[in-house]
Amino acid sequence: MKMIEDWIWQDFDALESTNDQAFEWSKSAVSGQRCVITTKKQTAGRGRRGRSWIGLEGNLFMSLVFEVAACDLSKFVFISSLSLLNTIKQVNKNSAIDIKLKWPNDVLINGAKVSGILLEKGEGDFLISGIGVNIAHAPKDDTLLYPVVSLDELGIKVDCRMFLQEFLRQWNKLLDLWHNQGFQAVLDIWLKSAKSLGEEIVVKNENKIIKGIFIGVDENGALLLSQGGDVTKILAGDVFFNEE
Ligand code: BTN
Repeated sequence: MKMIEDWIWQDFDALESTNDQAFEWSKSAVSGQRCVITTKKQTAGRGRRGRSWIGLEGNLFMSLVFEVAACDLSKFVFISSLSLLNTIKQVNKNSAIDIKLKWPNDVLINGAKVSGILLEKGEGDFLISGIGVNIAHAPKDDTLLYPVVSLDELGIKVDCRMFLQEFLRQWNKLLDLWHNQGFQAVLDIWLKSAKSLGEEIVVKNENKIIKGIFIGVDENGALLLSQGGDVTKILAGDVFFNEE
């Protein structure tokens, strides 16, 4: 069995979706085990809110499968995105980049999306965090909601294996922080890198468009928007910034 850090690692040449493979793994997983599934090519990747995720070779496609108490599910939105941000900062040696988090779980570099995260339920208490990172290519097509970018085009040279290793190290560090200092310590760091905190943003959700000042997030993962003194909690939607 291959391991990275203390994760079982299963690598494939091609898969429809690493999240599907992760679900299969969770069916026969033993309590206490955790696994990361990767593939070189992904042919039917899923994105958030029913969208698809283009699977060009050279990019990283991974799904982490691990056990979680029901009350902690939403915390992994923050753990996943903050681990990505910390990894990119760590592997970036030379480029001057503006790197920010966008609720719920995107990482933006110079305003463009470099990665995506899709959390899905596994079997029993297992959770799947499916993550795509534009390492070598930024897939561009007409249906994309946001500008996209790859690490390669920013001059950040890293291969998928190195990125994965560093990512799992950052993940474990955040779990240690959470367990030693409480989850608020993780949220505080997440918020320090959040784009447009304290500014007006727009959230689009189904047919609704909600405008307000982005004042923070709560422990359940909700976005907090202030609208004329009232605070609205938003559980799902796509965020747009004023310049978009
Ligand atoms: C998003 O819409 O931003 C989320 C994209 C998530 C894509 C990743 S790639 C690895 C994993 N397998 C999938 O089918 N989707 C996720």
